[in-house]
Order: sequence, then structure tokens, then C-alpha cells
Amino acid sequence: MIENRPHFATRLGVIATTVGSAVGLGNIWRFPYEAGANGGGAFLLIYIACIVVIGIPVVCAEFVMGRASRRNIFGAFRTLAPRGGRWWSAVGVLGITGSTLILAFYSVVAGWTAEYFVQSVCGSLADVASGERRAAFDSFTGGWRCVMWTLVILGLNCLIVLGGVRKGIERVSNLLMPLLFVLLLTLALNSLLLPGAADGLAFLFRPDFSTVDSGVILSALGQAFFSLSLGLGTMMIYASYFSHRTPLLKSAATTAGLDTMVALIAGVIIFPAVFTFGAEPAAGPKLVFEVLPDIFRMMPAGAVWSTLFFLLLLLASLTSTISMSEISVAYFCEQWGMSRRKAVAVNTSVAVVLGTLCALSFGPLSDLQICGMTVFNLFDCVASNIIMPLGGMLISIFSGWVLSRNVLQAELSPIPRALLRALTFSLRYIAPGAIAVIFIAY
Ligand code: TRP
Repeated sequence: MIENRPHFATRLGVIATTVGSAVGLGNIWRFPYEAGANGGGAFLLIYIACIVVIGIPVVCAEFVMGRASRRNIFGAFRTLAPRGGRWWSAVGVLGITGSTLILAFYSVVAGWTAEYFVQSVCGSLADVASGERRAAFDSFTGGWRCVMWTLVILGLNCLIVLGGVRKGIERVSNLLMPLLFVLLLTLALNSLLLPGAADGLAFLFRPDFSTVDSGVILSALGQAFFSLSLGLGTMMIYASYFSHRTPLLKSAATTAGLDTMVALIAGVIIFPAVFTFGAEPAAGPKLVFEVLPDIFRMMPAGAVWSTLFFLLLLLASLTSTISMSEISVAYFCEQWGMSRRKAVAVNTSVAVVLGTLCALSFGPLSDLQICGMTVFNLFDCVASNIIMPLGGMLISIFSGWVLSRNVLQAELSPIPRALLRALTFSLRYIAPGAIAVIFIAY
């Protein structure tokens, strides 16, 4: 089985798929609202520190474990642990639970994107006056149409994942990622010309540490993990499809670099507009969907821009949802011997039930509160702030302490000695320690 395992055809394919997984709603929807709710500049700095000091080493660890074992997260721990593989493979349970929760609420937001795309094509998005935007958005997210879109997204996701690694995942990513990047740059330039640009940039780039508390730090860490698709075995399963020639450290750094760049550009698009149109930076998950239409309305040929933007964002979300599904699908295929079709069916069915609950939590189920949160917020919080960092902590402990040094070195080579040492140091002490401290402080 291992010899026949598919792998990505080209180096571009490797970067496009890992970046395709990393770049998505996390950068363009979640990053701006988290930054907005957590005070802006200081959050950004802490976020970048988390990416460099914890994120990149953990990406490397997932890459090494994936390629060395050529298995899913469950199988990887089992094959690589010299003893106690059974216990370690429990991390796989975290991965599968976490990615399923994320797939559920992520599909809802991808559905919002689909609705905005359709409204852009029909021209109705631009018809809503600024003052009525919130009411229009609330009535959409509170209704059944939002559920319908969630199901459409899960259906599309199911079709692409069925197509498999080479044809489905790699081909879609190669084309879309570069296109999205160019469009984002154009929109950022446009935002820099808005009257609120200076205030927006000051909010994003001038750190004010007086607002920082343990909650802000945990959110920055959670966002770093979310954005890099870390801690659940996504990067692990993708690396299991890398060829042995793929340079792991370089790919990890490129992925993290591009991912952070996209988040920054999204911030540069959103915050000038937030301050120009008088929106509330701390508006939460709805922020981006309330602000973007105003940007497009001010632009010449705004309908064309918004159509393109929401289409690309939708496709970028799909390259992320397929990576969430791949975690469970590979697990069911490799550990349970299921056919790919059956595995996709199981994954999709669970996501349909949970996704519907999330979609309804803005309307009919908005009163259903668990620990003071709606289903949507609960899934997001449990997955991003608990399961992902916990998974990341265990992955780094495993690769720093349990995995043989030779495997680490062989997979990462060619790598300068000093870098290897720094990386191992982070995996052994810094990443697990920092995550533990942040957990405890919270
Ligand atoms: N990183 C993606 C984003 O920023 C989301 C994502 C894709 C993800 N795959 C994942 C998050 C796996 C957690 C786990 O949009």
C-alpha cells in the first residue's frame, strides 16, 4: 500500500496544496475579526511571534512525521513511536474530532461567501444601503438559506475529496492560489486610498500593549494554529503525499510566510475600510461580511470586483475544507480499510449534521447556549483554542522527545546544523512550554 501511495506531482503542487490548506477563511475572515476584537497591533505582533517560534517548528514536525511514516495522523504515531504507539495514537482522536468540528462551522462561513458571490453576480449586494447591511446579513444568516448554502458547500467538498489527491486537490489549488493573491493585492491598494487608511493602518500596526491579557495571547496562539491548519494532522497527511525530494523546512517556511502575508494583506484591506465606514473593529465573526460590501460599492466596476473576490474566497475555502476532510478520510481508509467513497460518505454525513446545527445557531437555535456560547462559537472555541494547541503540543513533544533524532535529521536534511538545533530546541522546550503556560494562565 505504501509504495502505491499517490504523491504530489510537482514542487508547485506541494506549495499550492499546503498553502491552499493554510490560506482560506482563517486569513481573510477570521484574522481581521480576531485582530479587531483583540486590540489590533499588539495582537498582530504576538500572532507573528507565535507563527515563527511555535508555528514553523510544529509545521516541520508534522511534515517530518507525515513523510517519514507515509500515514495519517493515527497511523503516523503508531508507526513512529518505538513504544506506546497505542497511547500516542490517541492524538489522532483529537485530530479527527477537531477537524470535524472545524469543517462544520467553516462550511457555514464558506456558505456566506457563496451567498455573497451570488448576490454580487445578481447585483443585489450593491443595492443594500450601508445602514441596512447589518439587518440584511442578520436576516440571511438567521434563515434557512444559510443552511442550504452550508449543504451546498459540503456537497462540493465531498466531490473534490472523492477526486483524490492528484486530480482533485492538487489541480484545483495550483490555479487558484496565485489568482487570489493578485486580487488581494489590488484590493489592498484600493483600501490604501480610502480616507480612513491612516487610522486603519495605525490600528493594525501600532501596538498598544495595555490591552494585552492572557485571553489576547491565547487568541493569537489559536489564530496561528488555525491559520496554519496545525495540530490536527493536516500538514502531516499532506506531507505523507510529498516526494522524498521535497525540502521540508523550506516548504514549511514558504507556507507560513505566504499564509502570514495573506492575513496581513487582508488586514490592510479591511481596517482602512472599517475606519472609513464607521464599522466596529470588535464586531466579531460578522465584521468582514459587513465591511466588504461597502468597499466594493465605492470601487469603479465594484460588482465585477466583488464577484471575483467572493468567488476566489469561496474557492480558497474549498481548498481548506478538503484538507480538513482529508484527515478523517485518510484515517478511515488506512486504519479501517474503508473505500475512499465510503470514507468520504461518513465524513460528509457527520459534517452535514454538525454544520446544520452551526448554521442554525444564528437563527432558530440562537438561544441554545452551551457554556454561554452558541453552537457555532462553541465549536470554534473548542477546536481552535483547545484541541489545536493541545494537538500541537503533543506533536511537538513527540517529535522533540520520542521520535528518533536520526529520523528528524534525515527528513529535514539538507539543513544547517544550527537551524536543526534551534528547531529541536523549540520542539522540545519552547513550543510545548509556551502552549502549556498560555493554557495555564488562561
Ligand atoms: N488554515 C485554514 C484557514 O486559515 C483552515 C484550515 C484548513 C484548518 N485545514 C485545517 C484549520 C485543518 C484547522 C485544521 O482558513
